Amino acid sequence: MKLWGGRFTKPTNELVDEYTASIRFDQKLAKYDIQGSLAHVNMLAKCEIISKEDAEIIAEGLQAVAKKIEAGEAELTEVNEDIHMNIEKLLIDEVGAVGGKLHTGRSRNDQVALDMRLYLRDALVALSQQLLDVQQALYKQATENLDTILPGYTHLQRAQPVLFAHHMMAYVFMFQRDLDRLADSFKRVNQSPLGAGALAGTSFPIDRHYVAEQLNFDGICDNSLDAVSDRDFVVEFLSNASLVSVHLSRLCEELVQWSSAEFNFVELDDAFCTGSSMMPQKKNPDVAELVRGKTGRVYGHLMGMLTTLKGLPLAYNKDMQEDKEGMFDTVETLQGALALFAPMIETMDIKKDNMYQAVAKDYSNATDLADYLVGKDLPFREAHAVVGQVVLDCINQNKYLLDLSIEEFQNFSPVIEKDIYDVLSPEAVVNARNVAGGTAKNRVEEQIVTAEALFSKSESWIIKRKEQIARIIEK
Ligand code: ARG
Repeated sequence: MKLWGGRFTKPTNELVDEYTASIRFDQKLAKYDIQGSLAHVNMLAKCEIISKEDAEIIAEGLQAVAKKIEAGEAELTEVNEDIHMNIEKLLIDEVGAVGGKLHTGRSRNDQVALDMRLYLRDALVALSQQLLDVQQALYKQATENLDTILPGYTHLQRAQPVLFAHHMMAYVFMFQRDLDRLADSFKRVNQSPLGAGALAGTSFPIDRHYVAEQLNFDGICDNSLDAVSDRDFVVEFLSNASLVSVHLSRLCEELVQWSSAEFNFVELDDAFCTGSSMMPQKKNPDVAELVRGKTGRVYGHLMGMLTTLKGLPLAYNKDMQEDKEGMFDTVETLQGALALFAPMIETMDIKKDNMYQAVAKDYSNATDLADYLVGKDLPFREAHAVVGQVVLDCINQNKYLLDLSIEEFQNFSPVIEKDIYDVLSPEAVVNARNVAGGTAKNRVEEQIVTAEALFSKSESWIIKRKEQIARIIEK
C-alpha cells in the first residue's frame, strides 16, 4: 500500500505512477534528504514530540538506509514516487512501524524545498572553487604574457594593440563577477524552509531554529507559504549559471578563432583536442566548441523554470517537481565545462610571434598617429581626417605607417617629426594606454595585484562556507 493510500479505494494506474514519479532524477537528493531527516528527528526528540528511544532507533535506521543507498543496495521504486517516500519506506522496512514517526510535523513540501537548498549550497561552493581555478589559470597566462602583444578587435576588425595579459585579465574579472553572484546567492539559498509543513506550519511544538542550526543554515524562511512555494533560489542559480555560460562561450569562441589557421595565435594542447574520422590532418577544438554549445541548454533551463513558475498560485503545486532536472543538469554541465577549462587554458601554447606580426603588419597604430597630431595642437577631428588619408595612401602603396619616410609623413602634415617612429611601435602604442584599467604594462600589473586580492577573498569565502556546510550533524 502507498504511504498515502488510506483515502483511496483503487490502486494507482501504472502510467500515472510512471508519469508522476520523480525518483528517476530526485534520487540525487538522497544524501540531503537523510541529513534533513536526521536533523528533524533530533528536533522531534528534543521538543519531546517523540521519545528519545524512538528517535535513536529512527536515526540509526536512517544511517543504515543511507549506507544501503550509497552501496546501491536499496531498491528505489516508482510506486514510491519520489526520494522522500522511498526513504521513508526503506526506513520502515528497516526499523518497523516506529519509522512512521519520522514524518511527524513535516510535509514533503517543506522537505523537498529543504533538500533542494542543501543540494544547491554544496554545488555553489564546488562551482565557486572551480571558477577560481579557471581564474587562476587565466591569471597564470597573464603573468607569463606581460610582453605579448596582439591585436585588440572591435567588429572583429583589428582595432588597437593590447597585451595578451590584458585580454586574459578581462576574463578574470568577468569570472569574478560570476563568483561574487554565486556567493551572494548563497545567503538566500542558505535559509531553512523546514517546519513550514505542507503550507501553513504545524500544530506540533517544533523548533525550526534548532533544525536550522543543526544543518548550519544562516536562518529560517520567515513565512510558511513562501517557504514551500519559493523557487527563486533555483531561478537565481540558473540565471547566474547562464552568465557563467555567456562568459565561457565568449572565451570558447576566441579559442576557436585563435586556434584556426587564419588567426594562428594559440595552439591548444593535444590532450584537449580531438581529430577527424576522415581528414587525417585535422585537430579540432571540440572542447571549446562543446562548452560554447552547451550554453543553449543552460539558458533553456532558465527559461523552463521561469515558465513553470509563472502564474502558479500559492502554495506547493506539482508543477514545481519540474525544478529538479534543469537544476541538476545545469550544475553538472557547468562542473564538466569548468573542470576542463582550467587545464585547457593553462596548457595552451601562445604563439607570440604570430600575434606580434598581426599587430606590426597592420594599421592598428593609426589612432596613435592621430593622437600625436593632437599633441601638436591639431583638433582631433582634423587629425582623424589627415590620418585617414595617410592610411588610404599606405593601403594603395601596400605599405604600413612605419614604412613611410619622414618626407612622406610631412607631405600629409608638416608638424610630424622623427620622433613619430618611436610613437608608432607596437610597444609604444600599448604603453601609451597608461590609464587606470588600460592595457599599458604597468596598468595590467595593477590589475594583477587587484586580482590577487580578489582571489584570496574568494579563497577565504570558500573555506568558510565549506566548513559551515561540512559540519552537518551525524546523528
Ligand atoms: N516529488 C515532489 C517534488 O519534487 C515532492 C513534493 C511532493 N508534494 C506533494 N504534495 N505531492 O516536488
